Amino acid sequence: MNAAAATRVEPPLALLAELTHRCPLRCPYCSNPLELLRASAELDTGTWARVFSEAAALGVLQVHFSGGEPLVRRDLTELVAHAAKAGLYVNLITSGIGLDAGRLAQLVEAGLEHVQLSFQDSDPTVGDRVAGLAGAQQIKRKAAALVCAAGLPLTINAVVHRHNLERLENIIDLAVALGAERLEIAHVQYYGWGLANRAALLPSREQLDKATATVEAARARFTGRLVIDYVVPDYYARRPKACMGGWGRRFLNVSPSGKVLPCHAAETLPGLRFPTVAEASLSEIWYHSEGFDRFRGTEWMPEPCRSCERREIDWGGCRCQAFALTGDGARTDPACALSPDHFLLAAAQAEATAELPEFIYRQHSNAPLTARPPVLQSG
Ligand code: SF4
Ligand code: FES
Repeated sequence: MNAAAATRVEPPLALLAELTHRCPLRCPYCSNPLELLRASAELDTGTWARVFSEAAALGVLQVHFSGGEPLVRRDLTELVAHAAKAGLYVNLITSGIGLDAGRLAQLVEAGLEHVQLSFQDSDPTVGDRVAGLAGAQQIKRKAAALVCAAGLPLTINAVVHRHNLERLENIIDLAVALGAERLEIAHVQYYGWGLANRAALLPSREQLDKATATVEAARARFTGRLVIDYVVPDYYARRPKACMGGWGRRFLNVSPSGKVLPCHAAETLPGLRFPTVAEASLSEIWYHSEGFDRFRGTEWMPEPCRSCERREIDWGGCRCQAFALTGDGARTDPACALSPDHFLLAAAQAEATAELPEFIYRQHSNAPLTARPPVLQSG
């Protein structure tokens, strides 16, 4: 990047701290990489504490604790305390599995300010099947009640797809009944496990249109009571989303092993090297690393993006999706109707009405893949 462009790089607003890939759930749309990291490779408490201090010094305002499931980290309370002490607004993105009143009280005491709780469905049977864990839905309901009782603002995250869209209205009603202030309805984004399960998850155009109308009606019905954010699937878009608000513009991710990334899927892009927090400070990486510079701004863009009036609105879409679909992360996102690769989405759309394949559940081991949810172990 030239010097003039370098001066335009603003500090990041938010840090996604991916504490671990471990998770009691096995959702087939998980955005974690197919190659999941083991606990022994995770950053330790002291290193995360330094990362939070460096993030605050860099200008980051919010930290989102994510995973995997952050609650599997025994040191989560300590990590929240470090982040809050550094002056960061602390949000926990969780499945709710592993949360009890005592743990939540400790987290609140340490400085936790907001919780985002995932629900797989309004129907507990389907919810448990998608989560890959029997009894998960019941535990989540209890977790929601605990968060509200603790006085924390609650957001419900609902990922929607071919298996649950027909119950979207019930999912919205569930969020209201649980006391959520905000509901994030996000269609599956097709990276990682989501891409591996695309044929089992991608909705039809008809399902999508119906869902969009349901969201609009619910927004009117619950004005002043529930804020609904709605993320539509790229596969039916005419223009792509500004992924991450633009590469290296607003967000940075730190992976469980300490890699500093512009987005959660950036490691899938070949030929790019992303330093770890052990190799350089967040500030050096944000302002001076090759990986962050590669797709910043508009200089890297091919046509039709290069001369497009939307190039500083959507920043050419998603680099990881461009790579996943075309094998070249530097091409225009095929989600854009102007992309020469837009036809690739038509083939994927045909999957949405084809015979339904079984889920490939995310897993750490090399055990055989299964479509059957395991039984919840007690204790
Ligand atoms: Fe966005 Fe590029 Fe499509 Fe223009 S051509 S709308 S900049 S992706
Ligand atoms: Fe990597 Fe969109 S997920 S740029």
